[in-house]
Amino acid sequence: MLTRRRFLTYSGAGILTLASGCSPEHINWLTHQDETSSTINLALVEQAKLTKLKSLLLGYPINMNTPPEDFFTWRQQLLEAGVGTFSYNNVGNPFKESPIVYNTHDFERDVIHRFGKLYGFLPSDTWGFLSNSGTDSNMHGMYMGRVLLKGRTGVLPKAYFTKEAHYSIQILRDLLGLETVFVETLADGGMDTQDLRKKLADNASQPALVIATIGTTFKGAVDQLDLIQDVLQGYPSYLHLDAALFGGYLPHTSYAAEVLYQSQSKLNRVRYDSIAVSCHKFFGFPSPAGLFISTQSHFDEFNEFFSRIHNPEYIKHVPGTITCSRDAVKPAEFYYFSSPTAMAKQQEDAVAILKNTIYLLDEMQSHFPNLQAVRSNELSNTLFFRKPSDRIVKKYSLATMHLSINNIKQDYAHVVVMPHATRKILTEFLTDLEEDRNISL
Ligand SMILES: Cc1ncc(COP(=O)(O)O)c(C=O)c1O
Repeated sequence: MLTRRRFLTYSGAGILTLASGCSPEHINWLTHQDETSSTINLALVEQAKLTKLKSLLLGYPINMNTPPEDFFTWRQQLLEAGVGTFSYNNVGNPFKESPIVYNTHDFERDVIHRFGKLYGFLPSDTWGFLSNSGTDSNMHGMYMGRVLLKGRTGVLPKAYFTKEAHYSIQILRDLLGLETVFVETLADGGMDTQDLRKKLADNASQPALVIATIGTTFKGAVDQLDLIQDVLQGYPSYLHLDAALFGGYLPHTSYAAEVLYQSQSKLNRVRYDSIAVSCHKFFGFPSPAGLFISTQSHFDEFNEFFSRIHNPEYIKHVPGTITCSRDAVKPAEFYYFSSPTAMAKQQEDAVAILKNTIYLLDEMQSHFPNLQAVRSNELSNTLFFRKPSDRIVKKYSLATMHLSINNIKQDYAHVVVMPHATRKILTEFLTDLEEDRNISL
């Protein structure tokens, strides 16, 4: 294993030569030799034009800000140490020794511990890894829940979630061969726990794998974990929390308790069994990745069942992850986002996005009441409203959906106020709405 100390003192002239193979001059040299070089150059020019417009993306939960200079310095340091210049691989459990020493498990462990602490996991009882995405983390959470519940009871669980949950939950439910119990929602889009109570009683012969969401994809709704846990008492259950977007910023706000692993008011009451957070959403990590965090005790129990289907001989331990090979570059690069400097910036961004959401809501409600803008709750950085013109939808890459609200079916769009959605960008958006109204008058 490449320990941090070994890594930081690594000088490796050979590796520096390798890394320089990725320099811009080298790419130019390649394109000049290529018959299609003019096409490639044109494509690059187009790409550069698009990059200039990136802050106009308001319809999806992606932080389009370029990470600070420090991140690229860190990336360069990694590159100079060889990480990303040949086939590094984080195969296996990051908390166990790997037979492939070219891994970044030590950075991965630190990332999990630092974020685990933020979500209130005990340092002595934290397990997790850096996945490929929020969906990938949801897959591990649901698989872990399925294995634990089946192992404990001998009966396959049913999957409980609402229709506001991300569409990937339905795909994962199919992959895991689970039956679904759709739970109704309240007016704000959050899970209706009275309906959950009723459906648990109707399906009491099978354990419950509950997938709750804090920050549903379109409406930004919140499933109330404490109320869900009240209802789950007495049932064999596992609760996986999908906090793909909100899980990134809530820990830095006055709503931090909403994503805490343990209840603040009920002693020793656990609120969820595992959590998924996307790294490219709030954090703005430049490529898709996800945090998956659970407890060491859950993992040990899971591993016991998992080891029955996996012969540990080949990699000398039971990996505990669904995929065998895992990216080693992302955990090392994402490590930057767990540093105190990066966390301070995350705090600043978290405060700013909630303030800007309030600003946008006020402006839309007072100037464009016809659009019926809604913010589901105070935790949310998402506003949904009646779909504006196609021109605006296209310019700001707005996600749209045909929804039935109060029994009226209409087209809706949403804006997710991410860190790049500054007052300047939001003002431009409001000005466009105004222009649109003038045209249609
Ligand atoms: C609530 C929720 N869960 C999961 C996902 C999927 O996350 P990823 O794109 O990281 O796979 C999304 C994406 O928008 C989401 O909003």
